[in-house]
Amino acid sequence: MKSERKVENMGIISRDIGVDLGTSYIRIYLKGHGMVLTEPAVVAINKITGEVLAVGKQAKEMLGRTPDNIVAVRPLKGGVIADFEATKMLMSELISRIIPKSLFSKPRIVVSIPSGITDVEERAVEGVVYGSGAKDVFLMEEVMAAAIGSKLKVEVAEGTMIVDIGGGTSEMAVLSLGGIVASNSIKIAGDALDNDIVEYIKKQYNVIIGLGEAEEAKIQIGAAMASMTDEKMTIKGRHLVTGLPQTITVTTEDLIAAMSDSIKEIARVLKLTLEQTPPELAADIMERGIVLCGGGAQLKNLDRYISEITGMPVYVAETPTDCVIKGVGSALENITVLKKATKTKRK
Ligand SMILES: Nc1ncnc2c1ncn2[C@@H]1O[C@H](COP(=O)(O)OP(=O)(O)OP(=O)(O)O)[C@@H](O)[C@H]1O
Ligand SMILES: [Mg+2]
Repeated sequence: MKSERKVENMGIISRDIGVDLGTSYIRIYLKGHGMVLTEPAVVAINKITGEVLAVGKQAKEMLGRTPDNIVAVRPLKGGVIADFEATKMLMSELISRIIPKSLFSKPRIVVSIPSGITDVEERAVEGVVYGSGAKDVFLMEEVMAAAIGSKLKVEVAEGTMIVDIGGGTSEMAVLSLGGIVASNSIKIAGDALDNDIVEYIKKQYNVIIGLGEAEEAKIQIGAAMASMTDEKMTIKGRHLVTGLPQTITVTTEDLIAAMSDSIKEIARVLKLTLEQTPPELAADIMERGIVLCGGGAQLKNLDRYISEITGMPVYVAETPTDCVIKGVGSALENITVLKKATKTKRK
């Protein structure tokens, strides 16, 4: 009897998981083990049978390449759930890779949510997480998770600033004494930059390229501002008029021009957040710097650009894409952090 209970307790501990339900990537953390999964937030479904054909990387390769009976979708847009059923299928499939489905092993799940989310959107996240088999759901604000995951000292009486530029949203927050003092969230991030590139190339070269090619160019040779190491690359697309395949050469300069309005907007809202910050805390940030995280933080020279605009030191976090899931993981491993940083929803 005694040993049975011990086994059960151990099971409960190892069944706690954390999820960063991002627009571009879903990341999962298993308590006691660390980050155990990263997969693109894409699902491929058979339209006729409703069956899931592929998730993650495999499904991402199908985007824009499916026959009529298959649909490959990104069910999250702008940081929130756009397609409830598809998100549930995606989450269930990924969670079952970590914890095999069984009646007796429902996990407790901590999931990060953007700060600008509405009540309806928040309930959709809860619904999806319960629908994927959770026993309890804890919600944790993404900026708080990102700050903890970037190893910022959020508990002390000093201002720190975190900026998380993901695929769907850019979130900025000033934190002090474990709370959010000022924050803003905008739906201009990596995806918007990819769209900008597609539009620019269409206008400039009369060539239509896919979003995947645009993202690749952004990652390989994109930048927020010019430098000595600017590059070129060739992209395959389709000519707008002839409809035939065409290869074009784009430069870093092209991409800077394409993305400049969106990058300016991110910087404007970042400055606005600083303006909403009490002067004492702004002085702390001036000293300690602004920390950038999220995949978008890796855009070349973005740190330099933001530093020039704000006049503050800017640093990119170590492994910027994993800050949120690391913060969610810290909360899972430490019950005090968990209680302070999350809201519990018990079914
Ligand atoms: N080197 C790079 N330069 C510029 N952008 C990059 C780079 N590497 C990744 N990205 C972009 O980062 C974005 C993904 O970042 P991240 O994984 O933080 O998003 P997410 O957490 O899924 O989204 P969100 O938090 O908005 O819901 C994508 O738009 C991707 O193109
Ligand atoms: Mg994110």
